[in-house]
Formats: sequence, structure tokens, C-alpha cells
Amino acid sequence: MNEGGLDHIGIAVSRIEDLLPFYRDGLKLPVLEEEVVEGQGVRVLKLDAGGTHIELIEPLNEDSPVAKFIAKKGEGIHHICFAVPDASSASKEMAALGYRPIGDAPKPGASNRMVIFMNPRDAHGVLVELSAPAQDG
Ligand code: CO
Repeated sequence: MNEGGLDHIGIAVSRIEDLLPFYRDGLKLPVLEEEVVEGQGVRVLKLDAGGTHIELIEPLNEDSPVAKFIAKKGEGIHHICFAVPDASSASKEMAALGYRPIGDAPKPGASNRMVIFMNPRDAHGVLVELSAPAQDG
């Protein structure tokens, strides 16, 4: 894992299968894994983009934050994610600088990582995710 670096770019898409050929067949990015993240209400397919990843994110239901994002803004780049050693302390350090985390504590994300998002209003419209290895993993 690329700690401190760009872990992935998350792309919101209504149906993964509709966009997958662009990255897999067109750009020839290897497919790494696919998983359902129940807590976030999404299905995620991860592709290797050379030192970082592209994640195609499909909402599982209309209550998913990603479904709401697509309804409001359409498909496209949803967030960028940075790898950090500890998502809780990284978000607290950012909060001390006045940047607001969304929620109180990191939650389970894809790939056995603990993740927390930062308020996009503090990043001029970009939703930024902080991701760290799960401590029990
Ligand atoms: Co992500």
C-alpha cells in the first residue's frame, strides 16, 4: 500500500458493467477484485492503475450515498482517496486544522480498510477519503 499517497480514485457509476470495458479493455487496466461494502451501500470493482487504483462504485440501493450522488450530479468522479497510517488520528489532526470529517469515526471500507471522508466544502468541492489498514486485519 502506498501510505501517504493516492490510494484510489472512486468513480460513481449506475452499472459497473457499462463502464468496465473502457478501463479493462480500452486502457487495459487489470481487474484486481470486486466486493460488496454493505456499510456504504455499494458494490466496488477495483482496477490496478499503476501505483494507485481506479474504483468503480455502483450503488446497491437508492439509500446509498452514491445513489444520491448520481441522482444529484450524475455519474463521474466521486472521490479521491489517500492512504494514511491511521484514519482516526489523521482525521483528528485535520479537524484540529479546521477541516471537518464526515462522521465521528472511521468505518469499514473496501479492501479491509478503515475509511473516513472529509467534508468537500473544506476541499473546494472535492470529496476526499482517508484510508488506513484495519487494525484487526
Ligand atoms: Co474510496
